[in-house]
Amino acid sequence: MSAHKERFADKMELPPATPQPNIYPLSWHSKTKKLQEVWEASLREAWEPEKLPWDTLDVDSYSWEERESIAYWWTLLSVFDASAPPVFAEALIKTYEVHEEDPVRKCFFSVTRDEQNHEIMCGQAITRMLGHPDPLSYQPKTELGRRLQKNAQWLYFNGGRYWTGYKQAVPRYDLAVLFSSFLMGEIAAATIFKQMYESAREPVFKEAFKNIGRDEGRHMAICMAVMERDYPGLKDADKAIVTKQIRAGYLFLSAVLFEPPMEFWDLPADFIDNQREAEEVARGAGFGIPSYEMKKENWRNAIINLKGVLDRYDIPFPAIPEVGITGQEVSDADMDDIIPVF
Ligand SMILES: [Fe+2]
Ligand SMILES: [Fe+2]
Repeated sequence: MSAHKERFADKMELPPATPQPNIYPLSWHSKTKKLQEVWEASLREAWEPEKLPWDTLDVDSYSWEERESIAYWWTLLSVFDASAPPVFAEALIKTYEVHEEDPVRKCFFSVTRDEQNHEIMCGQAITRMLGHPDPLSYQPKTELGRRLQKNAQWLYFNGGRYWTGYKQAVPRYDLAVLFSSFLMGEIAAATIFKQMYESAREPVFKEAFKNIGRDEGRHMAICMAVMERDYPGLKDADKAIVTKQIRAGYLFLSAVLFEPPMEFWDLPADFIDNQREAEEVARGAGFGIPSYEMKKENWRNAIINLKGVLDRYDIPFPAIPEVGITGQEVSDADMDDIIPVF
């Protein structure tokens, strides 16, 4: 290292101003009371996936097709949830760089922690169901399991492509814009975990879905509180980006909430049939993945809720004809611009 740092202390009484954005705020302003409440709730409601009643789960009571199908659902979920800790860690860094108020920083720390819990939970479920800690290198036991592993490989490939886009997008956008994408993910997550909780038969999964759903509810509250704070003054250019993000979020999150749209997801022709077959098997084993019609209805309702929030701030909503929602056409929702997270 040859870098020679210029010395200032012997030339002036006080140091020069620190160039911004700079990673640390050295201040603890606290304005948004709601966010402090959510932070405190996150501490009270902490849970540990590894300490759930795993001894009540008897994997041998399931057939191999059932085990592989249930593990497949957790794998699909982890395409989203295993990227969530770094996604929120990146956003957490941004809250420090822009010197966000103290409760915003704390809330983002809590979301990062929660998302890691969700990822740990995916790992626990997959490892137990497959008897192997990695769905991609696992040796399938059934013919369906082999086709599901191929699906998992394609999902992993698609998810991996999104990380580069996300890293480039975070510095480009204001937190206010990022929040619309986060909210989309949180609404989606809160929706699916509530459904899964209601229909799960296996106690340890039921307990996990209850906890994850509660976490996602807090994440939603964080997004709403920051939007209430920032959206009344949102610039028109930012509103246009939000509209596009919502469309991109729909396409991205549909893979887990509904079915992956092929215009966005690069997947083989037999992907959806394989997935539907696994869902049917999992349902038969008491793992309550909603039916196609139920998914569509739930996803539509979640999007209508989101539309209600954005309407309050005069933000144009994108057309989502797939679930019968009219609005502004967005055609170029490509990977480069996408920020949605789960
Ligand atoms: Fe999550
Ligand atoms: Fe979340």
